[in-house]
Amino acid sequence: MQLQKSEYLSDIWKDGIFANKVIFCTGGAGTICSAQVRAMVYLGANACIIGRNIEKTESAAKEFATIRPDASVIGIGAVDVRDFEALKAAVYRCVMELGSIDFVILGAAGNFVASIEQLSVNAFKSVMDINVLGSYNTIKATLPYLVESAQKHMPGPETLSGTGGRIIFLGATLHYRGMPLQSHACAAKAALDSLSHCVAIEYGPRGVTSNIIAPGPVAATEGLKRLLPSDAEAKYTKSQPLGRLGHVRDVADATVYLLSEAGSYVTGQTLVVDGANWRTSGGM
Ligand code: HXC
Repeated sequence: MQLQKSEYLSDIWKDGIFANKVIFCTGGAGTICSAQVRAMVYLGANACIIGRNIEKTESAAKEFATIRPDASVIGIGAVDVRDFEALKAAVYRCVMELGSIDFVILGAAGNFVASIEQLSVNAFKSVMDINVLGSYNTIKATLPYLVESAQKHMPGPETLSGTGGRIIFLGATLHYRGMPLQSHACAAKAALDSLSHCVAIEYGPRGVTSNIIAPGPVAATEGLKRLLPSDAEAKYTKSQPLGRLGHVRDVADATVYLLSEAGSYVTGQTLVVDGANWRTSGGM
């Protein structure tokens, strides 16, 4: 779907700040990740998006490529992040076609509403595997390129700016207090927090940064549809501290900040983009 720029990015960013950079995004055709990738492409990056659904992934990539006349965007479908070999092949293709990987967004996720009793062991495992193993696999497959990018763009501790070798996890806030019917998702998102902290500390000395963006309820997303009945949305929106739901642009702007030179010294952190939702509603 062709979107106006104002639907995925604020006007304040300088054109071309991500020129010659490549972003690799899992789950890149999803509603939130689409906005993040669109924003990066608009500001000069080339992109490779990964997804399980071939048609959805390829058609999103085609659309993102129209954002900028010289943009290169590839969509690689039929890649399940639980399959390390498939992921490695996608990473290889990205580097062969686009030349590098400077940024990674870990957006592939899976969730549904179910009690602990309703969940089968395999259902719990599936959500853990998509989120946690999938993120680990993606990091493992892309880290050599991220280290290379970090060294190229920020060769030593004396360099204050530069941008490359950055990871953003798509996190959540529901596990901060816990949530009924979300034991699987809470456990997975908590593990991602920890994984990101470890990457930040282990790979910081090689210039790689790792942060989490934790969106609250974002309007018109699959996650919100699954967690909130549509007839409850108006009342729920009114009850929010800022009186509105999140917009995908809120998350895209946060992404641009973290991946830009302005985010150089931010690592091992979570940027919660939720309008103070979790402090009042517990993450949903
Ligand atoms: C209980 C369910 C279930 C449900 C699937 N399962 N849906 N159990 N309630 N609603 C069980 C299945 O029966 C099966 O267990 C196991 O989960 C695996 O399901 P599969 O169909 O084999 O698919 P698989 O590809 O392994 O799992 C994918 C999935 C699915 C996570 C289950 O929902 C999916 O593909 N989701 C992708 C899209 C998505 O979830 N988007 C929302 C992301 S939002 P058995 O025992 O039968 O084998 C998000 C935000 C989180 O993540 C934060 C919110 C604030």
